[in-house]
Amino acid sequence: MNAALQSHTASDRLNAQQASQPTAEALLQVQGVSLEYRTPERVVRATHQVSFEIDPGDRFVLLGPSGCGKSTLLKAVAGFIQPSEGQIRLAGQQVTEPGPDRIVVFQEFDQLPPWKTVIQNVMFPLLASRTLKRREAEERARYYLEKVGLSAFADAYPHTLSGGMKARVAIARALAMQPKILLMDEPFAALDALTRRKMQEELLELWEEVRFTLLFVTHSIEEALVVGNRILLLSPHPGRVRAEINSHQYTLKSLGGVEFQASAQRIHRLLFDEGEAHAVEPDLRFQDVRIAY
Ligand SMILES: Nc1ncnc2c1ncn2[C@@H]1O[C@H](COP(=O)(O)OP(=O)(O)O)[C@@H](O)[C@H]1O
Ligand SMILES: [Mg+2]
Repeated sequence: MNAALQSHTASDRLNAQQASQPTAEALLQVQGVSLEYRTPERVVRATHQVSFEIDPGDRFVLLGPSGCGKSTLLKAVAGFIQPSEGQIRLAGQQVTEPGPDRIVVFQEFDQLPPWKTVIQNVMFPLLASRTLKRREAEERARYYLEKVGLSAFADAYPHTLSGGMKARVAIARALAMQPKILLMDEPFAALDALTRRKMQEELLELWEEVRFTLLFVTHSIEEALVVGNRILLLSPHPGRVRAEINSHQYTLKSLGGVEFQASAQRIHRLLFDEGEAHAVEPDLRFQDVRIAY
């Protein structure tokens, strides 16, 4: 079991003792969060009163069209942006700034400094944050490089790697920090279709092995169904919660199947058909729609 899950269990016990919370708290709680960008001319509302909760071990996906505020929400969870309304709590603590318990993997893998080798790249955040001393950092880096299948490339430089390999370095680097939650913003969007599929498969294998908690952003319905066990559907600008869907039954093997296609179509209707969003609800056959606003 990883450290994040253990510490969450400990915080559950603490909360149970406080007795103000009758049920165990989720690992991440996003409550009524509105996010705004203020420019001298105007205020842009990116999300409107968004609420969701993530439990340890979830692969939680934020899904919605471009501009619906997914990246902004992720940045708020990471602590880079403060909500104008509502609050975000991680393991019971209000998020007010970035911290090593929340690591973000972005779409651009050229976030890897080119003058550092693969292993130096993975070690860097561990050393910079003074999480570990050099020897332990190297040991941990090798462990996660092995997990993503890059042991043989520890001493290679990023420019010699393919896009998929750079993605794996970025994931190893993030996991090596053993965050309470891993945040991924369209991490495979820049890859070709086949590499993207391969990365989705590897991410799921890695999750089977390491059981980290994931918050994953995508605008691809298919990717959301494959990667997530729970999907939060956000409406277009400003992002509001449309519904939350349980999608744990789907894997890459479900792609193209009848049930998978039907779910993808229903999600499409929920996302884009303003008028139908409510009308559609009664005959939804998901036993699994947990919230629909
Ligand atoms: N730095 C910024 N300044 C002003 N508006 C922004 C900024 N970043 C994003 N926005 C606006 O906020 C909204 C949500 O953006 P974003 O979170 O990037 O959406 P998504 O990731 O879902 O595509 C969009 O309308 C976008 O134009
Ligand atoms: Mg985005």
